[in-house]
Amino acid sequence: MSGAARATATPLDDTRWFLPESLSPLAYTRIYAGLALEHRRRYNQLHATYVNEQILFFEQTLAENVLGGLRRAGPPAALDASLARFIDDERAHIAMFRELNRCCAPAAYATRDYRFVALPGPAARVLAAASRRPARFPFFVWLMLLMEERALHYGREIVQRRGELEPAFVETHVRHLRDEVHHVRWDEEILDWLWPRTSRPLRWANAVLFRWLVGEFFSVPRRAAVRVVDAWIAACPELTPRREVFHRELRELRQRTDFHASLYSRTIVPRTFARFDGAREFAFMCRVLPGYRPAGAR
Ligand SMILES: [Fe+2]
Ligand SMILES: [Fe+2]
Repeated sequence: MSGAARATATPLDDTRWFLPESLSPLAYTRIYAGLALEHRRRYNQLHATYVNEQILFFEQTLAENVLGGLRRAGPPAALDASLARFIDDERAHIAMFRELNRCCAPAAYATRDYRFVALPGPAARVLAAASRRPARFPFFVWLMLLMEERALHYGREIVQRRGELEPAFVETHVRHLRDEVHHVRWDEEILDWLWPRTSRPLRWANAVLFRWLVGEFFSVPRRAAVRVVDAWIAACPELTPRREVFHRELRELRQRTDFHASLYSRTIVPRTFARFDGAREFAFMCRVLPGYRPAGAR
């Protein structure tokens, strides 16, 4: 936890970017280039705290449940040992990203972990209950693979631009990158064990659930992205007259090929897409991830 401890001790430099601009949705809108530098940077910093929230939510709500459930499903001994390490890693990450957000915005995160991510109580309870039964709902492991492979991309982009980014952000995401390399390998080992043991009807049902979840929460900007823009406007009230324009531009991103390519592509998530190719149930993922084309269709 040395990385997290250092991140906590280091005051954040809000004259720096927190993430590369290419990792934020507004950067793909037509109006972005015309914004003042200080407006772009403030948006970047708020969006970066939302990215931390997404990681925190994923690891806090899903990863531990899924990994614990997999251990109860009786995996081979070597995989079980990896799962125990996996759980320890994710617990450390939860603490690390929570602390980073408290450094970014002490008042906003003093008594809560989530400012932008919001899942209604009943939906959160259903998700939590299902994630504790990964043998019945193995789509959670597919989701972990997709998200963790994408985290590697984020980490590499951050390393590439580290000179212009806030140092605590770089340190935390580099530490995350180091662990996620192992996690992606373990996700694949879990799928190699679990997916062939899943009946064909259950595989299809899981693929449908997976497609819905990705389309609803992990693809085009929706509710949380709008909340980030609204928080940005609240911080920069001179932007208030343009609120509707920003909202419209965000909505229009769902039609933008370059934006989709910035989220998921064969460069960003090559292993996940290769696994989609090998499992017929995932051919229709292209409907929610336009960056994916089944191998035979390219
Ligand atoms: Fe993690
Ligand atoms: Fe992870």
